Amino acid sequence: MPGDKSISHRSIMLGALAVGETRVTGLLEGEDVLSTAAAMRAMGATITRDEDGMWHVHGVGVGGLLQPQQALDMGNSGTSTRLLMGLVASHPITATFIGDASLSKRPMGRVIDPLSTMGAEFTASPGGRLPLTLRGISPAVPIEYRLPVASAQVKSAILLAGLNTPGITTVIEPIPTRDHSERMLRGFGAELTVEIAADGARVIRVRGEAELKPQTITVPGDPSSAAFFVIAALLVEGSDLVVENVGLNPTRAALFDVLRLMGGSIEELDRRDVGGEPVADLRVRHSALTGIAVDPAVVPSMVDEFPVLFVAAALAKGRTVTTGLEELRVKESDRISAMHAALSLAGATVTETEDGLIIDGTGGDPLPGTPEGQAVVTHLDHRIAMALAVAGLASRQGIEVDDTRPIATSFPVFESLLAQVSGA
Ligand code: S3P
Repeated sequence: MPGDKSISHRSIMLGALAVGETRVTGLLEGEDVLSTAAAMRAMGATITRDEDGMWHVHGVGVGGLLQPQQALDMGNSGTSTRLLMGLVASHPITATFIGDASLSKRPMGRVIDPLSTMGAEFTASPGGRLPLTLRGISPAVPIEYRLPVASAQVKSAILLAGLNTPGITTVIEPIPTRDHSERMLRGFGAELTVEIAADGARVIRVRGEAELKPQTITVPGDPSSAAFFVIAALLVEGSDLVVENVGLNPTRAALFDVLRLMGGSIEELDRRDVGGEPVADLRVRHSALTGIAVDPAVVPSMVDEFPVLFVAAALAKGRTVTTGLEELRVKESDRISAMHAALSLAGATVTETEDGLIIDGTGGDPLPGTPEGQAVVTHLDHRIAMALAVAGLASRQGIEVDDTRPIATSFPVFESLLAQVSGA
């Protein structure tokens, strides 16, 4: 599996804030991460890739970001946008953020609110959307902020703003989300503590005016990318596939537990540590799946995996019920309604609710597929396109996908890998 997208973004950002050279191997070379790299270059970092695929990042130091001369084009990437807004907020620079049609519909108020409290100023498009201009401030004001929505992007934006803010910046996280920022900030030498409060919330504190030390980083493979191959192997008869280099950070890996509860045969091989994150190879065999009610408590630990889980559910025996998925409506697309429409068109039995989908599976029979001349609509969302490609493997007449270009944002080699393993 190619490198983890979340970890790749963070390695470029923190490398760009350390003084000296950070080296990164296994970086995901998808469009989203390249948007982050371009933005960090525009703010003063030197970032190059050598012939062996190693990335070299020469940072400017915390507090050293330069005024970008042009708008920062974030493409399709919410992670780049929200995390970089955090970085810019506590520097004395002004930056304009722009993005594609999908990103320009996504809510930024969730980061504008806390960063405004720290002293940054925003001029946003209606509804707190892109394009927006952010005037950072130095020194910014440290805050203590309780996350109103379970979002690693919001948490990370505040922690990154805290890096160049005097004193202690605190984020209280009632529901745990992916902890790559915390792990990597510590790895770069920031003073960061995590405490569990009496009510079970995680209290994360970072000391500002930090000095980050350059690192050598190996990015582990992305479990969110592995998800497509794991489910393809579970669904396609005769499959016995080893998916190598799968990150299994507990804040990311709930999908594999859910699939096992549904009867999926997924075996961990060679569990190891890569770049401070747990990793294994997964051996996956075709399995008869049974529908379940997915516990909403696991949603943050598999938030990006629901589109492809819905495909698994559409082929399972019996009913799968998902709830607590409100956040899916503000991803690269409204993933609840996009998957409802796409799976229905492909012949699955799906009901949309406010916060999830209810799916009555075929019990292993292939889906009919899309009717002649009709294609499922991906709405500039890479994960919708890849989920439907997997569904196509488990359909009678195939599934026509309207636009596969968004796949390059997170998984440029997806199509060639899928062709390779499926013998197409
Ligand atoms: C990400 C956090 C998640 C996830 C996104 C990557 C990150 O978003 O959906 O793909 O790298 O922090 P939210 O924080 O909005 O849940």
